[in-house]
Amino acid sequence: MNTPKSIILILLPLPLLFLQTHAIIFTIQNNCPYTLWPAAVPGGGRRLDRGQTWTLPFPSNGPHLAKIWARTNCTFDASGRGRCQTGDCNGQLQCQAYGSAPHTLAEYGLNTFSHKDYYDVSVMEGFNVPIEFRPITNGCTRPVRCSGDIIGQCPSQLRTPGGCHNPCTVFKTTQYCCHSGPCNPTNLSRFFKTRCRDAFTYPEDDPTSTFICAPGTNYRVVFCP
Ligand SMILES: *[C@@H]1O[C@H](CO)[C@@H](O)[C@H](O)[C@H]1NC(C)=O
Ligand SMILES: *[C@@H]1O[C@H](CO)[C@@H](O)[C@H](O)[C@H]1NC(C)=O
Repeated sequence: MNTPKSIILILLPLPLLFLQTHAIIFTIQNNCPYTLWPAAVPGGGRRLDRGQTWTLPFPSNGPHLAKIWARTNCTFDASGRGRCQTGDCNGQLQCQAYGSAPHTLAEYGLNTFSHKDYYDVSVMEGFNVPIEFRPITNGCTRPVRCSGDIIGQCPSQLRTPGGCHNPCTVFKTTQYCCHSGPCNPTNLSRFFKTRCRDAFTYPEDDPTSTFICAPGTNYRVVFCP
């Protein structure tokens, strides 16, 4: 009868481990009238039919950065290989890499500078699906939304099947991509800014496009809010 003691010693650290890693919950919801294949890196990806939600826990002590987006018009085989018209991540259902443009991005920096959460919506990879990203606990309430008719009104140079490209993706010039030194909004970045006031539209966009919560906050990402 000498085993119980060693089992107790082995099990003891586990409750402490869980205490240190309260999960942060992201609820990802598809309100669009069509099926989406949302993706999170880290986190993977899955099919989400109209009205369905995907609950995604992140450990509170990491990751330090997460990106969440929707993929559209996907087909996958039983092994999770296939492709999507927008947001595709190397043909994987379970994304491990960021997606291809265009896709509207919800970005999240956990417990980064001075122990705060930073969250934003970005159209730096273009736009495919309207989005709302909002904190839902911790007294933090500021929603960030990008839900204008960007695809319908997309300037012809930026049009692509299923979405609207960011000008940097199309032209790859310093003017649009800010490769070096300070840069300014362009008439094409303003196309996005006037429809998505809260979103990052070019690399040196207004820092007020980043929003802040205390660490440990839970969030909701709604597609077609
Ligand atoms: C999917 O593709 C079809 C055919 O190209 C297109 O009509 C439809 O709008 C696409 N759906 C989405 C959600 O992009
Ligand atoms: C932006 O400016 C360029 C060149 O001046 C023009 O060709 C283009 O139509 C403008 N785009 C928008 C969205 O105003």
